[in-house]
Amino acid sequence: MTEVLEFEGVRVRRGDNEILREVSWSVSDTDRWVVLGPNGAGKTTLMSIASARMFPTEGRATILGETLGDTDTRELRVRVGLSSAALADRIPSHETVRNVVMTAAHGVTGRWQEEYDSFDEERADALLWAFGMETFAEREFGTLSEGERKRVQVARSLMPDPELLLLDEPAAGLDLGGREELLSALTELAADDRSPALVMVTHHVEEIPVGFTHVLLLREGRIVAAGPIAETLTSENLSATYGMPVELTANGGRFSARRG
Ligand SMILES: Nc1ncnc2c1ncn2[C@@H]1O[C@H](COP(=O)(O)OP(=O)(O)OP(=O)(O)O)[C@@H](O)[C@H]1O
Ligand SMILES: [Mg+2]
Repeated sequence: MTEVLEFEGVRVRRGDNEILREVSWSVSDTDRWVVLGPNGAGKTTLMSIASARMFPTEGRATILGETLGDTDTRELRVRVGLSSAALADRIPSHETVRNVVMTAAHGVTGRWQEEYDSFDEERADALLWAFGMETFAEREFGTLSEGERKRVQVARSLMPDPELLLLDEPAAGLDLGGREELLSALTELAADDRSPALVMVTHHVEEIPVGFTHVLLLREGRIVAAGPIAETLTSENLSATYGMPVELTANGGRFSARRG
């Protein structure tokens, strides 16, 4: 077991605003984490640091053994897969679905003059297949529904065979069927020991895929609780995270929550 993320006393300040406060967190290569917390809690900021796209104001962040500040972040970014709304907005709408996935091999969003070989194409098609999108390979990305786009984004983030995969709200905006299909694909990914370490940000405990192992609860930039789901995802901890009484129900590895 090796650590893929090690945060020690990470703080992020923007003006007077402290976005992350004393975050100490470690993720090992076999972990599958869920990050939960209210709007503005700092979840996306945490993912920006974990993907080497932002530096802590204070503290140490070590990603795949490389400490931010002492390393070439361009090389590190290629080793970390990230799927987020901000990245999706940069994908050209006229690009074909296959190219949207395949161009991730070079860390670009639109096809230009990079060289791809048949291995890249086969890998892109295999990933589209894994997310039920194989029949969409020739379609323009801009013509896809929100749910179809989300599945393509997750497939894209796996294209460079990352050692760590970060998914920032992958199920946001999906209908029930779309969400359940995405969760099944993530459950399969979680169960495969060839998969990278996974960290998924979500707003809903209903979106935690079966097989995820750990949870980090964040409120106002601070960790409320972090650890194995079985012990850490509790009504009490969720109530402290959301600042209101929350009642958690577990059923067959899935969860639901309501005001308690
Ligand atoms: N550059 C910045 N300058 C000032 N404040 C910022 C900056 N970037 C982010 N913030 C603030 O930091 C806080 C945390 O933002 P972040 O995007 O990490 O939250 P989040 O938990 O992902 O929220 P959401 O659930 O809404 O996506 C927010 O209050 C946001 O307004
Ligand atoms: Mg966010």
